[in-house]
Amino acid sequence: MAREFPLVPQDAKKVETRYRRIATAIPVPESVPMLEEMRRCEPRSMSGQPPILWAKGDGVCVIDPWGNRFLDFSSGVLVTGCGHAHPRITAAIQAQAAALYHAYCFPSAPRIELVQKLVSLTPEPLNKVFLLTTGAEATECCIKLGMTWGRRNGGPRKRRVVSFHNSFHGRTMGAQYAGGSAALKEWLDPDPRFVQVPYPDGFRERDISFDRFLSSLAEQSVDAQDVCLVLSETYPGVDVSMWTREYAARMREWCNQHNIVLALDEVQAGFGRTGKWFGFEHLGIVPDLIACGKGIAGGMPLSAVIGRPEVMDLYPPGAMTSTHSANTVCCAAALANIKVIEEEGLVENAARLEAVLRDGASRIAQSAKGRIATANTRGLVAALQFVHSGTTDPDAELAWQVTKRAVESGLMLFAPVGVGGGAIKICPPLIINEEALREGLEVLREIVAELA
Ligand SMILES: Cc1ncc(COP(=O)(O)O)c(C=O)c1O
Repeated sequence: MAREFPLVPQDAKKVETRYRRIATAIPVPESVPMLEEMRRCEPRSMSGQPPILWAKGDGVCVIDPWGNRFLDFSSGVLVTGCGHAHPRITAAIQAQAAALYHAYCFPSAPRIELVQKLVSLTPEPLNKVFLLTTGAEATECCIKLGMTWGRRNGGPRKRRVVSFHNSFHGRTMGAQYAGGSAALKEWLDPDPRFVQVPYPDGFRERDISFDRFLSSLAEQSVDAQDVCLVLSETYPGVDVSMWTREYAARMREWCNQHNIVLALDEVQAGFGRTGKWFGFEHLGIVPDLIACGKGIAGGMPLSAVIGRPEVMDLYPPGAMTSTHSANTVCCAAALANIKVIEEEGLVENAARLEAVLRDGASRIAQSAKGRIATANTRGLVAALQFVHSGTTDPDAELAWQVTKRAVESGLMLFAPVGVGGGAIKICPPLIINEEALREGLEVLREIVAELA
């Protein structure tokens, strides 16, 4: 699992390219007292990322105060699709902050323009938008709406939420109940309303047919009539696999048949990451609800639930709100972010560069001497699952060492994620060009070849 990076400066090899510059030991000796203060004043949970002080952003690069420049393959955890400090997003934030930076749920123009825009981006019947702040809030809201739908349409029995093994929907209580990692639920008592089934990834679950979904429910004595909500990530963070179109079609049909809300967690997949505006467009179905976050606002804290009016309108005026929902500055940033994605053709760029990323990820896997089990890619996101040779057991140590070395080489990755902390995600800003993408992939390939 995640662990702290030591605050002991290592003499790093000097690097100087257009996208990367390493001129000091890493961590930078002058940064160590600051990082130590951070660790003194914050819970340990906040010290899991590489010990680099992020001071400035510049497109696909992150820069520290000592002039080290990192090619960003993290997008700050899949957020900065338009890159760092995009001038149009910065200008929108500055202008809105100067005019009005808080409006609670009183109407404001940025909020109205944003919800209009989001409705225009999503297909029928996803015609209503509820703006929130974090991804976890958006998935929690899907759970609340799904459970409320069940109660109103099937009575108190219809209250079970079906989600997937190893899934992640955020760190608040409902999101963790729906999440599929036992380790993250140790603090919670089991709740029979939350049921998990195998995710059809073709790796940890070989049977990718919808019949496996049904048989797993049967094994757990779950009656379809008692299910109010199915919640799934559009792709699981650990491996970027997706339902087949056939699986998705049968899921849609099953949910319709039993009056179940189908919600997809697009917090990672939305806003161009997979080479389409929304990941569910690959599946050939439209869910009832989607939860959005991360890439929606380019780095400002904003999330959204977008859904069918019958579900979105379950609560009366004032009963589904939040103090910071639709924050005016965040809305202005989101609008600017969406316009940049549209006008700079970033969804198309992600689709175009998918082949380069896929090829690079499979070359890295080939260099890993059997220690990378899957290297799935969609658009501009790939996940490398490090394992102990010949098994599906995650190799967290190797993934962590690779991450450490990458950062020391000027390639920014976030700490390994997923099952047992064994997966490295490659997810650069959607503005990346082919040259920078190839450079970062080659850096990673050389490190993996050496350490595996
Ligand atoms: C698929 C998915 N859902 C929900 C979340 C939670 O989002 P947040 O961290 O903004 O609460 C995340 C965050 O990593 C995520 O990847």
